Amino acid sequence: MRGWTIFRMPQAQRHFTEKHIRLFSQLLKDKYGIRITREKTDMLKRKLQKMMTGSNVASYDELYELINSSSLYLTRFLDEVTTHTTNFFRESSHFDYITNEINYLLGKNKRIREHGEIRVWSAACSTGEEPYTLAMILKESLPEEIAIKMLATDISRKVVSAAARGVYALQIENEVKQYYLQKYFYKADGLYQVTDDLKSLIKFRVFNLMDPFPFKKDFDIIFCRNVMIYFEGQAQEQLVQRMYDIIASGGLFFIGHSEGLVSKEHRFTFLEPSVYMKA
Ligand SMILES: C[S@@+](CC[C@H](N)C(=O)[O-])C[C@H]1O[C@@H](n2cnc3c(N)ncnc32)[C@H](O)[C@@H]1O
Repeated sequence: MRGWTIFRMPQAQRHFTEKHIRLFSQLLKDKYGIRITREKTDMLKRKLQKMMTGSNVASYDELYELINSSSLYLTRFLDEVTTHTTNFFRESSHFDYITNEINYLLGKNKRIREHGEIRVWSAACSTGEEPYTLAMILKESLPEEIAIKMLATDISRKVVSAAARGVYALQIENEVKQYYLQKYFYKADGLYQVTDDLKSLIKFRVFNLMDPFPFKKDFDIIFCRNVMIYFEGQAQEQLVQRMYDIIASGGLFFIGHSEGLVSKEHRFTFLEPSVYMKA
């Protein structure tokens, strides 16, 4: 064989079998409610190959043991298979809805009027663009005497830390109007930084939507956008039911534009596509 360069795939990469697809998919389903469809198995394999390259394990069996027993590897795995894509004013009709209908919403929601506060949850906040957009919109549209209390959560520690830092590239100028940039951001080291004032309205936490909800008070607005698509049907339906239970009467529930409640059993009142109210 002299003169020939023989490319050998590493041993571990040659043995990704149906069994591994089942094992890793089941793990994602059990821990996070995430479903890996048939079309996504190639993606799953690629991501696992990448993880294998960066670790000392020699087989997919060993990698499975590592991921299953170490929260660090488990969250790395999750970060690999989910996307954190987001931007400021994403699916902007939702923010327009809040701006335009604020008086109607205040009229419907006794909790806000009685407590002088609005409780808002961005339930899969990724790197923070969604909760900061919401905070700006609420600051602009609510009467000053109503306190804004927001919670922003995500399963991924990495994105929650980024969200809490609130530092963004200059390109956000393409998403955020000058008016908001000047009022709610400042420039430092060639980046945009969210003002402390805006940040102080939001608590950022790591939270898995599959876990029981620990909340003592209801929310007036919940944004649960572009995350249900990852979950299998039953997990989606249960999540919607649990969301309903922690929304105040007259409160709003927003889901992603490509997500729908049509085929799900739920108690929400439809307001417009991807916007619902608890009557
Ligand atoms: C595509 S981003 C959506 C971000 C934002 N809501 C938006 O619409 O722009 C989906 C986010 O869901 C998070 N996620 C996935 N599974 C989750 C779970 N079980 N619990 C909480 N967050 C989860 C991911 O980490 C990711 O940041």
